[in-house]
Amino acid sequence: MKILVTGGVGYIGSHTVVELQNAGHEVLIVDNLSNSNIEVVNQIEKISGIKPLVEIFDLEDLLLTRDFFTRHHGIEGIIHFAAFKAVGESVEHPLKYYRNNLVSLINILACMKEFNVPNLVFSSSCTVYGQPEILPVTEDAPVQKAMSPYGNTKQISEEIILDTVHTGGIKAIALRYFNPIGAHESALIGELPLGVPNNLMPFITQTAIGIRKELSVFGNDYNTPDGTAIRDYIHVVDLAKAHVVAVERMVNQRSKSDFEMFNVGTGNGFSVLEVIHSFERTTGMKLNYKIVGRRAGDVEKVYADTKFANEELGWKAEKSLDEMTLSAWNWEKALNNKSNL
Ligand code: UD1
Repeated sequence: MKILVTGGVGYIGSHTVVELQNAGHEVLIVDNLSNSNIEVVNQIEKISGIKPLVEIFDLEDLLLTRDFFTRHHGIEGIIHFAAFKAVGESVEHPLKYYRNNLVSLINILACMKEFNVPNLVFSSSCTVYGQPEILPVTEDAPVQKAMSPYGNTKQISEEIILDTVHTGGIKAIALRYFNPIGAHESALIGELPLGVPNNLMPFITQTAIGIRKELSVFGNDYNTPDGTAIRDYIHVVDLAKAHVVAVERMVNQRSKSDFEMFNVGTGNGFSVLEVIHSFERTTGMKLNYKIVGRRAGDVEKVYADTKFANEELGWKAEKSLDEMTLSAWNWEKALNNKSNL
């Protein structure tokens, strides 16, 4: 199949491109490189042996987006990653987030209608559940008021897709990611945070390698066994594989409805301290960290009920927390040895 991956040079996008290529699909990438490095395309080629076609432009631009679809025919599915994702930044620059995340999606959907591209996989987030009342959280749990403009773009995007799907001709699957971490086992691709990382895993690896002095653990007074917040961390390669099965499900007419949503997590919750201890165990290093106050907007605990994804998609996360933390460390070391990334 010919699949367009928007944001395919980014963290989750690049891992998904590799898995699509491994499954025998032809991949086209559109990326504006706003939070990624073009060198990643060569790294993808080193892993898969195939250099994907890449076009660099902004999907906020409808003319350029239409032009792309006039030149590329036979695209059977789009996996739409291209979006901003920093929660804190979205609070400071809400319009930047609404414009980029929503306009790009609207342009993609408009072109899907105009150029008869039938299938969309959308990157959604467990953030739509807020702090769920019942854990593990199922796809039926109510969507709660978003805590940030970033989270709101994910909720609004799901609604925009639903309304568009209702008009016919398009099928979609929203994958609600839990917390993707780790890197490809080759250590050729991984997360490339610009500036000071907001997320836990890159902050851990950057602290261990000496870029950051100390990790702050945000709160140890939560109602959890060790007091630190609990998340469902998922290996990025497992997450990437979920995209392959999602797009194949639609193309092969196996969807049960025209817009489906799946939780993409492992089903296991781990605390911040458990992630740190896994990192220390697998790397043999001691991490410099201190406990500080809670971070505004953080939920106490969230982890996925994965039954629906496991049964319907026939997909299951396979990699352990130790594999996640070790692969993140191997990637950080490789990154540190490279000047070109
Ligand atoms: C958040 C968003 C998620 C988004 C993701 C990517 C929510 C509920 N989740 O995930 O939708 O896709 O960011 O940007 O809004 N922590 C520390 N010290 C640190 C960093 C993090 O203790 O330096 C803790 C956090 O308090 C949290 C856990 O580690 O308990 C995970 O944090 P993080 O990696 O930032 O992800 P989320 O906030 O869960």
